[in-house]
Amino acid sequence: MTAHDPARSPEATAEWWRNAVVYQVYIRSFADGNGDGTGDIAGLRNRLDHLARLGVDAIWINPWYPSPLADGGYDVADYRAVNPMFGDTAQAEALIAEAHERGIRVLLDIVPNHHSDEHAWFREALAAGPGSPERERYLFRDGRGPDGAEPPNNWRSMFGGPAWERLPEHGTDGADRTDGQWYLHLFDVRQPDVNWEHPEVRADFEETLRFWFDRGVDGFRVDVANAMVKEPGLPDVVEGVNDAQDGGHPYLDRDGVHEVFRSWRRIGDSYDPPRVFVAEAWVPDPERLARYLRPDELHTAFSFNFLTAAWLAEDLRSHIDDAITENSAVGAPATWVLSNHDVCRHPNRLSRKPEAGRGWNLDDVLDLPADPGLGLRRARAATLLMLALPGTAYLYQGEELGLPEVEDIPVDRLDDPTWELSGHTLRGRDGCRVPLPWVAGEPWHGFSDVRPTGPGPWLPQPDVFARHAADVQAADPDSVLNLYRDALALRRAHPALGGGTLSWQPSPEGTLAFTRVSDDGDGGFTALVNVSSAPVSLPEDAEVMLTSGPLTARGEVPADTAVWLRS
Ligand code: GLC
Repeated sequence: MTAHDPARSPEATAEWWRNAVVYQVYIRSFADGNGDGTGDIAGLRNRLDHLARLGVDAIWINPWYPSPLADGGYDVADYRAVNPMFGDTAQAEALIAEAHERGIRVLLDIVPNHHSDEHAWFREALAAGPGSPERERYLFRDGRGPDGAEPPNNWRSMFGGPAWERLPEHGTDGADRTDGQWYLHLFDVRQPDVNWEHPEVRADFEETLRFWFDRGVDGFRVDVANAMVKEPGLPDVVEGVNDAQDGGHPYLDRDGVHEVFRSWRRIGDSYDPPRVFVAEAWVPDPERLARYLRPDELHTAFSFNFLTAAWLAEDLRSHIDDAITENSAVGAPATWVLSNHDVCRHPNRLSRKPEAGRGWNLDDVLDLPADPGLGLRRARAATLLMLALPGTAYLYQGEELGLPEVEDIPVDRLDDPTWELSGHTLRGRDGCRVPLPWVAGEPWHGFSDVRPTGPGPWLPQPDVFARHAADVQAADPDSVLNLYRDALALRRAHPALGGGTLSWQPSPEGTLAFTRVSDDGDGGFTALVNVSSAPVSLPEDAEVMLTSGPLTARGEVPADTAVWLRS
């Protein structure tokens, strides 16, 4: 430990989450410890040294609970157990201990908006019938129209189609059922929304938090934190009136959700060290998003406007400013992220022109011509931009290997419910979920640590993954992996990086330049990001610490390149 190690200094330890670099582990695709083609806890334990060497402060593990995997595990059947496909609770505890030994904290993923239809409570609700206390834990309603044949309101599922499912007369559980009620599912039909007005629902999620906190888990990412609380009476969404997301929408960003998070914060604070939360809340207004981060609520929330920004200096700068300003008004750091398991990997997003206005899913950009070399150059620059900003940064597994989105998975192998629910018009999110390559030349690019037994990884890997295998990347000094390692080491060592403030500096049009000063007043750091299409000169007397790509022969910063400077 040194004085230049902000994340590790004793006084900062309790507030580690303010400037951490967190690595997202999509467990199904990270590393396979038993050769069956699916990632698991054993594989993750075997690869912890990769994460320690990379230099991350924490990992966030996507849901690993028992689940029929109708939505990749976001359909949880039992919150206080581990899916046997991934391991068991004892292995989870061993993983947490081994991560902690390496100074890596562990965040899990809690899914409070909905259960799996295989959750015991939902089965009880189906069996118990209309008006029963068991159905009160979900949002069951009679339909509208003659015979109740129309859904109770006009809400739409986020994956496409109506957000209501009518119970069949004969259940898959074999029961005869003629009540014909409907249940709400804002996501897949196999993800019934729970009723957050119900005290048993609140108490049960609190028990889940304690269950994992008692096992050493350091915090939770909160899935769809902005949709849990619904307007009583479940009124229709009125277009043009409810779309502003100003607190008046019947199910998005309702003010009632904050009371839930106050109570979760009290639970997190009752532990030593305090446990923390990061919200997944796609709330476009940064002022509304910052409400989740008031001092008695959640600690951090992803600033998705940065992820969705166009590759244009003005767009990036205004989203960075908004997130920092609104979050600091409530005393919270900004939380930056470029990729995750729900969006097209950023090299592929950035490989397309026009750069603006096309969304962040593969389906939004698939028809546009792509330049993979350009995408990777921009991705490397975007990473140095993100890691130079004040606050917390999240990395998505594989981005440190420069992995591309797999855009052409055969449609008969697609697993994301989006494909079915969109009537086979949207490929969905599988392209960023393909199992990682660890060793080139090995079966399955080394995804499995043991001799594979299954027919192949659960999603097929393309040949190009060989170039991105961790061993190939480690051996190449100019690789993406070595850029990430160098950037994280510098970020950890440089006194001005991590927390603190940012000051924009004058710079040529189409570029971003800013200096950084730590909370203790340490400076000496400038970042210059050339988002324009022409090279720009370095500031005079600049001493280059790191560049996302080579400078020109004349020592200029080429287009789509970022540099870190000692100033
Ligand atoms: C979140 C998850 C996503 C999931 C959805 C429903 O957006 O990140 O993967 O499909 O919630 O739980």
